[in-house]
Amino acid sequence: MVEAALDVEGMRKTYGSGGKALVAVDDVSFSVQPGEILGLLGPNGAGKTTLIKCILRLVEPDAGAVRLFGEDFSQRRNEMYRLVSAVLEGARNTYWRMTVRENLAFFAGLQGISPRRRRAFHDELIERFGLTEKATTPVNELSTGMKQKVAVACAFARETPVLFLDEPTLGLDLHASYTLRHELKQLAADHHRTIVLSSHDMDVVRDLCQRVIIVQRGRVVVDDQVANLMALFRTEAYTIRLAGAAGDDVRRRLEERFVISDWQTEGGETRFDATVADAGQLYDMIDVLRSSGLALAGISRSEPDLAQVFLRVTQGESAAVKEVAR
Ligand SMILES: Nc1ncnc2c1ncn2[C@@H]1O[C@H](COP(=O)(O)OP(=O)(O)OP(=O)(O)O)[C@@H](O)[C@H]1O
Ligand SMILES: [Mg+2]
Repeated sequence: MVEAALDVEGMRKTYGSGGKALVAVDDVSFSVQPGEILGLLGPNGAGKTTLIKCILRLVEPDAGAVRLFGEDFSQRRNEMYRLVSAVLEGARNTYWRMTVRENLAFFAGLQGISPRRRRAFHDELIERFGLTEKATTPVNELSTGMKQKVAVACAFARETPVLFLDEPTLGLDLHASYTLRHELKQLAADHHRTIVLSSHDMDVVRDLCQRVIIVQRGRVVVDDQVANLMALFRTEAYTIRLAGAAGDDVRRRLEERFVISDWQTEGGETRFDATVADAGQLYDMIDVLRSSGLALAGISRSEPDLAQVFLRVTQGESAAVKEVAR
């Protein structure tokens, strides 16, 4: 078996004490394989940032062990920081008086990397993140989104095998977010980086991560491949379009037997979503429609998106997910 790049076991963190104690991270365990990009999802306050800070020992956990490539660095923090970089939520990760290029050189230097020798790589980072025109501009003169890109670029400039990115696309415009995730994916693949990334943007997670962990109230409720999660929720759900306005009687007949939602009648057409237990039920439904004299104008299987999966899991369906996954 390949040694995990990151192995977290029994992580736990309580803020405060007594009646005000809040368990922000509650017995979290997971591993990340080398080269894997793991998505960390969860509603606001779920404990994602706290978890990352505990792993990095920026916050002292109550309990929990972390191994990087099989080694425990809890007594050797400086050595650990040679292996991991992080861009943390809302933190100033760069030196604002220095230019973009100087920041890259500085963070590479911290790592004992000669900036001169890595100039080509730094140019590549600057270009990939669309910062070429700003390469010699002090960071404090950049926009919020650009600062964020510089922070991510600096994390890469440290050339550590493991990276933590807490909401890397926060505050980025659509184009910048798209570019950033494209480049992240490319950089991770080209340089074989292991990344733990938290995000509320499901497009980012879907694009970048093979696997996700969903955290809720400090606990891991789902740990699975994105593809499996999508498949799990690829229930037999269809969007049906009918040529003609279907009346309430038809709707009632359908609702008696099937799970119908999003019923809309517009422009002489009716459309609705139907969830059926199996293909047999789909045929039954079509029979009902036929006997009502309604012509089928279209039928398509609805693809769940990751956002729906996330909402359903965090709205109390995690037990169901585990049940199905078993
Ligand atoms: N320094 C702190 N002192 C006390 N409580 C804290 C502290 N930091 C976080 N918390 C609490 O711990 C819980 C988890 O917070 P955390 O910031 O880890 O969540 P998150 O998943 O990162 O949320 P978001 O998606 O909003 O970034 C929250 O209830 C929060 O109020
Ligand atoms: Mg957070």
